[in-house]
Amino acid sequence: MKMDKVACSGNDEFYTPDYAITPLVKYLPAPPEVTIWCPFDTCESLFVKRFKRLGYNVIATHISNGEDFFEIDVPKCDYIISNPPYSLKGEVLQRLFEIGKPFAMLVGVVGIFESQKRFDMFKHNDFEIMYMNRRIAYFKDYSEQKPSLNPPFSSVYICKDILPKTIVFEEIKKT
Ligand SMILES: C[S@@+](CC[C@H](N)C(=O)[O-])C[C@H]1O[C@@H](n2cnc3c(N)ncnc32)[C@H](O)[C@@H]1O
Repeated sequence: MKMDKVACSGNDEFYTPDYAITPLVKYLPAPPEVTIWCPFDTCESLFVKRFKRLGYNVIATHISNGEDFFEIDVPKCDYIISNPPYSLKGEVLQRLFEIGKPFAMLVGVVGIFESQKRFDMFKHNDFEIMYMNRRIAYFKDYSEQKPSLNPPFSSVYICKDILPKTIVFEEIKKT
């Protein structure tokens, strides 16, 4: 079985803890004149809540509201930030490179450069990576936020036009 299939076995309903959003925030311009589109997020998403709390304009769209990332018109926004469905990460990144706006997507690092398709995509597009010192534990229930997916691999932010260098290392504190 391919490693990225292992990494995304189960389903796509795992949610991002707040501490995983912290290292990205300092690379964003100050609000309020900035609009962030979170395309895989309901209003319960901690990306949405954190960015709103900080004073950004936030557009949250999600498949459960009939808003398929691959189908809907790209809303007017400055940044596209989320944790996408693991099973579609290659397709999501391809679409984001086509859209051409600055983005940051939190993805499992395992298998990210594998497959000829992804190799070609990364070879032909400029991007940055944020590598974090701790693994992120995702949760399944917004009301509890109890970690339920402790993947045996690191997560990274794949970014475009957000980080100042090709690779950035950040320390995170799990809460
Ligand atoms: C890994 S979860 C992350 C959710 C949220 N972004 C977070 O970080 O907590 C990915 C989410 O994308 C949703 N999703 C799957 N396919 C989608 C699509 N084509 N368009 C929009 N959302 C989609 C899934 O239902 C799932 O809730």
